[in-house]
Amino acid sequence: SWRIPMLVQELAAKVQQPPSRYVQPEQYHPVSLDVGAETPKPIPVIDLSRLSAADGADDESGKLRLALQSWGLFLVANHGIDSDLMDDLIDASREFFHLPLEDKQKCSNLIDGKHFQVEGYGNDPVRSKDQSLDWLDRLHLRVEPEDERNLAHWPEHPKTFRALLHEYTLNCKRIKDCILRTTAKTLGLNEDYFVAQFNNKAPSFARFNYYPPCPRPDLVFGFKPHSDSGVLTILLMDKDVGGLQVLRDGMWHNVPTSPYRLLINIGDYVEIMSNGIFKSPVHRAVTNTEKERISLAMFHGLDPEKEIEPAAALLNEKQPGRYRTLKAKEYLAGFFEHFCQGTRFIESVK
Ligand code: SIN
Ligand code: FE2
Repeated sequence: SWRIPMLVQELAAKVQQPPSRYVQPEQYHPVSLDVGAETPKPIPVIDLSRLSAADGADDESGKLRLALQSWGLFLVANHGIDSDLMDDLIDASREFFHLPLEDKQKCSNLIDGKHFQVEGYGNDPVRSKDQSLDWLDRLHLRVEPEDERNLAHWPEHPKTFRALLHEYTLNCKRIKDCILRTTAKTLGLNEDYFVAQFNNKAPSFARFNYYPPCPRPDLVFGFKPHSDSGVLTILLMDKDVGGLQVLRDGMWHNVPTSPYRLLINIGDYVEIMSNGIFKSPVHRAVTNTEKERISLAMFHGLDPEKEIEPAAALLNEKQPGRYRTLKAKEYLAGFFEHFCQGTRFIESVK
């Protein structure tokens, strides 16, 4: 039925043309397919070792502030994650995506083959017949809080997968805290302002995106344009195959492949908490005819009961709050509703 589409990996092996549900209306066709090419304005690179060090930190935090004001994202070098860990984790996920379908279905995101749940392997949820579909499959896993992990969704094969993801998660947490401390400081907030929003119920999700080659990259999205919900996303991009694009000043910019660097973007919650000083960047992924592409997004969310609102210290008579207060769980409900329709919830929170 329309509710449960075929996995894109299966579809890609079968069809010469993307089915109509994947084809974008003409005005949205992804042009600029020269993926991986350097953009006219290069994406800023932040040296994490200089952010954590006392000396030179001011210079680097100034760079961070500019990056967040202009792009809402940046690449990170010297982040302290071993390149072998990055390779091994992506290789392990590739091995998983290459397993026979029935093996992957053990981690399915469908209950009784019918109802979408948040975690697991499969398509993004489909909520209406006319929802336009993206050219990817994904494996979505809750990695934090650690005691809420549901290992039934975590691949057993390859055997190394679980330990690698665990170690990678710990590294992301460290990097997230470091970036958020500097981000708070550059806004003139207490350096723990963002870090203190995370309690022991704050969820993090690992999302492995698998984009099979597509016969008509000019007609479909790998991942439709969106900004991320949550506080901060740490993206490990395919080191060989480009495809990510970022919207800036009304133009789509390619993010070049950047082996062993991480791409970090703020999510909608930081846009709200910074009262719009920083904007959550709109981005999308495009496909290509030749090569599969894998990326891993680590999303850092907040306790569902936590209220999200502009930081009081940023508000005054001249700068009133520009976003209404709502709980993280309310934000997420609105976010997915809008995401499915290709619109942005944050526009209706203003
Ligand atoms: C995304 O998580 O928004 C997609 C990123 C990518 O595949 O590069
Ligand atoms: Fe995203």
